[in-house]
Amino acid sequence: METIQIGMLGLGTVGSGVLQMIQHNEDKVVNVTGRQLNVKRVLVNHPERHQDVAENIELTTSVEDVINDDEIQIVLELIGGIHPAKEYIEAALRNHKNVVTANKDLLATYGPELVKLAHDHHCDLMYEASVAGGIPILRTITNSFAADKITEVKGIVNGTTNYILTQMSQQGWSYDQALKAAQQLGFAEADPTNDVTGKDAAYKMVILSQFAFGTQLAVDDFAVTGIDHLNGFDVQQAGKFGYVIKLVGIAQVIDDGVFVEVAPTLVPADHPLATINNEYNAVMVTGEAVGDTLFYGPGAGGLPTANSVLSDIISVTKNLVLKTNGNFFNNYQRQYIPAAPRD
Ligand code: HSE
Repeated sequence: METIQIGMLGLGTVGSGVLQMIQHNEDKVVNVTGRQLNVKRVLVNHPERHQDVAENIELTTSVEDVINDDEIQIVLELIGGIHPAKEYIEAALRNHKNVVTANKDLLATYGPELVKLAHDHHCDLMYEASVAGGIPILRTITNSFAADKITEVKGIVNGTTNYILTQMSQQGWSYDQALKAAQQLGFAEADPTNDVTGKDAAYKMVILSQFAFGTQLAVDDFAVTGIDHLNGFDVQQAGKFGYVIKLVGIAQVIDDGVFVEVAPTLVPADHPLATINNEYNAVMVTGEAVGDTLFYGPGAGGLPTANSVLSDIISVTKNLVLKTNGNFFNNYQRQYIPAAPRD
């Protein structure tokens, strides 16, 4: 059976989850794709810290070893941040590698440019894991709302802040105590500033808006407020009035434009979003025909995010099989043509 060789850039929480899932779910992958997956090389900064990795996986400190390897057909970018991830992905696409990434900062900032580069090189660029961790929301918007007109996308799209707010409200923890726990549990970014200031949620709203409305926004185009100024008293007081404070992102069609905002929001205790706790995320998509729909799941963490990464790897693998057979099937990003930007 043919094996699809994968190269990975970065081996943190999500990368380890991907390795674990590829190893444990081999039979399922073979059934679905007709191919085996093998992680051939992984770019890491400190190979000596990854002695537990299987012997057949080569650890390297040189990105060229991954993106110039002729056998590698899929490059998995999991180092995060904008630079050098952008340059690595560009080089991989120029080398005709398909790319799967969880990098919301990069896709929210340079998404259309990278999608075009992928398209020009007849490659796939997929990033389901960049928004709402384990919830398959980009696929859902693309496929299941293909015929409906979306009027609003709103929800909780940052697991770290939702975990912090939940602990402050339900356990009476301090902000600092809850943030520390979120870091220890691997939900927060390496530097949690983007989580707590709302920027991480804003990146995800940019990507959601692109998929839902065809907008090409930047995070500086709309108001973003985080939870870093909140204290236990605020959270407790909201509870006494029958509300829960949640960091909510909203993107809503208003007239012929789209209004986007990220802000701590008083959510009535009986609203579905008020019941989303800990690192869980929820995205409510409203379509003209279907009305309100709600998608719920873990928004951060190794295995849930790895599952989204692996679903993209499987989509790419299916496309590789179709290409081998002389067919070509467009994945969601490549078939997705953003509408004209709105003001
Ligand atoms: N730090 C992010 C969060 C990870 O807490 O949601 C998933 O994007």
